[in-house]
Amino acid sequence: MSRSVRLVPAAAAVLALALTATACDGGVHGTPGGSGVRDPYFPKAGNGGYDVGHYDLTLDYTPAGRRLTATAVITARATHDLSAFDLDLVGLHVDSVTVEGRKARFNRAGQELTVRPHDDLRKGETFRTTVRYSGTPRTLTDPDGSEEGWLPTADGALALGEPVGSMAWFPGNDHPSDKATYDLTVTVPEGLQAVSNGELTDRFTKGDRTTYRWHTAQPMASYLATVAIGHFDVTRTTGPHGLPVVTAVDPTQVKASAKVLAKLPGIIKWEETNFGPYPFSSTGVIVDRPDDAGYALETQNRPTFPGAPDTGTLVHELAHEWYGDSVTPESWQDMWLNEGFATYAEWLYEEDYGDKSAQQTFMDYYNGDHEAIWAYPPAKPSSAAHISDSPVYQRGAMVLQKIRQKVGDDRFYDIIQGWAAAHRHGSASTADFTAYVERKAPHQDFTEIWKDWLYGDKKPSHP
Ligand code: TRP
Ligand code: ZN
Repeated sequence: MSRSVRLVPAAAAVLALALTATACDGGVHGTPGGSGVRDPYFPKAGNGGYDVGHYDLTLDYTPAGRRLTATAVITARATHDLSAFDLDLVGLHVDSVTVEGRKARFNRAGQELTVRPHDDLRKGETFRTTVRYSGTPRTLTDPDGSEEGWLPTADGALALGEPVGSMAWFPGNDHPSDKATYDLTVTVPEGLQAVSNGELTDRFTKGDRTTYRWHTAQPMASYLATVAIGHFDVTRTTGPHGLPVVTAVDPTQVKASAKVLAKLPGIIKWEETNFGPYPFSSTGVIVDRPDDAGYALETQNRPTFPGAPDTGTLVHELAHEWYGDSVTPESWQDMWLNEGFATYAEWLYEEDYGDKSAQQTFMDYYNGDHEAIWAYPPAKPSSAAHISDSPVYQRGAMVLQKIRQKVGDDRFYDIIQGWAAAHRHGSASTADFTAYVERKAPHQDFTEIWKDWLYGDKKPSHP
């Protein structure tokens, strides 16, 4: 997210480069940035050597023909001297790449778009890369079999990016450890709408095409970026303390969604009581048709649902705005920090509005016939195909209940609110979390909880 000024004017950099050709002192010795960030589950995801601050994406899409024409302007800071760097992009045709306005050489291999700037980049330098690209964006299949990337829908398209689907529709650093702000400008045939993250800042029609501009002012992980193109009933209201609420609902889902969506402001208010201040400048939902995607996703500001959600799912996805979207996992191994918390939010909601305490839910899972929960520890999923299984969700939530049992309610709420505050708009790991809990409750011993519940292979011998 951080940016810095150019350390040297472009001319001086060119001169320095020219000098390295003859005398080797003081020149830029850039090396390639690296084609992944060594994620334990998705080793090719993300790229080394730079940190993106902002994505400015301009998309033009026509659902009939599924044709995308796009430009991505990526502002990033070099984290070491770079002779080349990679962007993640699958499918599509790259028409041109420039870096700092100068034509750059590029080549493609798998999901890596390798860019060789005309001039080496210096460590600390902020640079702008412009990629022009076009074609039909792909629908990708996750290791767990679900579809992500660019999903054609009954009346348009839907972009969903968890875990590595954003590379199907824009080039970037597709890893949760590199968050950035976004501007998304989407042009579609007149009569269709384009809904995205953040806030709508402009909308105009020229000829027979309408352009929507969305701005995301708080840092966002690439997997949380979305755009939904189609027909939507859009409602603008306000929630707690004037928070803008934008709901976009497919016309076929409006009736079925009305009752549950009326609860949204109340759920945000209840979540603020439990988790602390809402972390973003707007909220809402996108509800597409049940067949458009088989699952809900916590797309930033505005979670996406396949048809009308039930209350528990709405509570879950909105809880992700704190846990997942604001505090984002450092790697895909830390997924339980998202799903364990969002599942625990459902348990807490049930405790307050239903008829079961979180402890009862915990005991039901412990005693019940739920073998799958014990398949692997929450903090160490067995493989990329299993990062969305019950050990991450339910057993992840059980870890939180174990902490609550140990420290009591007051300190437990301090911990979950403090965690959201400490890493607000950042990325954090499981080790950060255990260290945080230990700092907040210095007289307690969490060794067994970490060993048996968080990292243990077997079902713990007692609840
Ligand atoms: N994160 C989604 C949820 O709210 C579930 C999900 C969608 C998911 N796509 C995924 C989980 C890909 C892991 C990988 O629970
Ligand atoms: Zn979730």
